[in-house]
Parts: sequence; structure tokens; C-alpha cells
Amino acid sequence: MKFEVFAPGTIGNVSSGFDILGLAVDQMGDHFHFEDAKTYSIEAVGRDASLVPTDPHRNTVTLAAEDFYQLLGIPSRPFKLLIDRSLPLSGGLGSSAASSVAGALAAAKFADALDRSDLIMKAALHAESAVSGMHLDNIAPCLLGGMVLVQDLEKLKVYPVPVNLEFWITLITPDVKVKTKDARRVLASSLTTAQWTQQMAHCTTLALAMARGDAEELAFGLKDTFAEPARSSLIPHFNAAQENARALGAYGFSISGSGPTCFSLCPTEAVAKKVADAVKGIMGPATRSYVVRPRLSGAEILS
Ligand code: HSE
Repeated sequence: MKFEVFAPGTIGNVSSGFDILGLAVDQMGDHFHFEDAKTYSIEAVGRDASLVPTDPHRNTVTLAAEDFYQLLGIPSRPFKLLIDRSLPLSGGLGSSAASSVAGALAAAKFADALDRSDLIMKAALHAESAVSGMHLDNIAPCLLGGMVLVQDLEKLKVYPVPVNLEFWITLITPDVKVKTKDARRVLASSLTTAQWTQQMAHCTTLALAMARGDAEELAFGLKDTFAEPARSSLIPHFNAAQENARALGAYGFSISGSGPTCFSLCPTEAVAKKVADAVKGIMGPATRSYVVRPRLSGAEILS
């Protein structure tokens, strides 16, 4: 059996929704080519390919696949894998989630068990946890597309947030690497009541504004007072970039997942392009920028 899986990039947290909100993006994602084989073998081409672990015990694609077979209670069915990457590794666009989702989906296809979406999500979560900590806010939108709210991590209960607003997304990836595990270590372990209620107000407004198509309130919701203050110091010139993006008319500018990629939601393509140019000017020529749309469908088996 031979087939290809496409898994989209994702923005974890979407600013105020730490660990519980995620958004899939269009045009950016990784392609995974699978072929059944006697033993696992992994090759990667494209962006950051030389950094991809080719040891099946360390690669999230094979970790997720093995986990899926185990959860299903069947012997493993190894494969030969070629990964064609466009997502940055340790870049904040859900690359490890994309690999975990692709591995779990591929195993389900090999095992003729694509209806076991519960196990697909569970296996992807187990694999991603091994490299970047326990969170579903990249995996859920990668699998389902659109914006997803994670209601219960243990029960794998997720809830799609309707996207009823037209917007463009600027993605800016500075030339630094930030490992999610490291970026989770800098977070505060407790909040005051005032800090907690403020973050809840932003996050609730964000989800509600997205569902109601309310641009003004979206801008209110795109404020992160928890992770962003702790993590922005890991991203050179973050504050100046954020000020510029807002001055140019963006709804908001924040860190995508654990960074270093930053994202900005913008009302028009023209604003998104202006933000991309301005932030590139601030963060330096090695910065990569993209203007994309939200992706409303999730990972897919292409052939
Ligand atoms: N919610 C996770 C974090 C996302 O911010 O650590 C990582 O992509």
C-alpha cells in the first residue's frame, strides 16, 4: 500500500487561548509519503530536513503510528516514509503535531481503521507529548481544520469554533529556534485572580467574536496576558513588531504556539501584506513571512 498524507500547519493558543484554542492555516503544511515495508525507514526533504530525527524511536510520525497499533491491539505495520516539509521545526507552526497526526492517520489507514478517530487523536497526542508537552491545541485543528476549542484534554473532548469572519493571517518566522518544552518552562505557575479573569475575558471574547463574526471584539480577544509577556523576550523585537502591526490595522499580533513564529490576524490581504513587510523590516532580513488564510478542513489522505 502506498499513499500520501497532507497535514496543515496550525497556530496554537491563538493568543489568549493558552493550550485550549488552535487554528489551522492554509497553504502551509507537510506532505508525508507512506509505503508499507518490512522495517521503518525515514527520509526528509525540504525545510529543516537535516534536523528531522530519522530514528523511528525519536520521530513523532513513527511514534504516533506505533502508539496507534498498540491502542488498537494489533501488531505493528512498519512503513517507508518520505517527509516533504514546509513547516519550520521548533518554529511554532505545529510541525510536531502535523507529524504526529500524519503518523496516526497513516497507521489507521494501514490497519483499515480510519473510523477510530478517538484513537487517532490519542496516538497523535501521545507522540507529540513525547517531544513538546501535553497539549492538543495544535493536534485538534490539524486533524479537524478551522478553529478548535479543547474542552477536556484527558477525555480528548474538543469543540469546533465556527469561523464566521473573513480574515487574512500574516505569519512571521524569525531566524531563531524555540523548543516548546523550553518555552513552557518560562511560564508562570500561578496567576492572581485579576490576571486569571482578564485572560478568561479575552479568550471567551475571542471565541465568541470568531463565531459571531465580530471584528471589533476579535481585536479585544486577541490579547494574551499569560504566555506572551513571559515568552516575548525569546523573540527579538517582538514588542516593536506588535506595535507596528496594530498601527497598520491588524486585529492583533501575538506568538503562534510557543513561538518563535508570530501571527497577525488582519481584516484584508492588503493589511496582512503591509504587516508582513513592516515586521520583516523590524525583525531582520533572515525573517520569513507568509500571508495565508485559515484552513477550514483538516489533515487528509491524498492518494
Ligand atoms: N499551547 C502550546 C504552548 C502550543 O503554548 O506551549 C505549542 O505549540
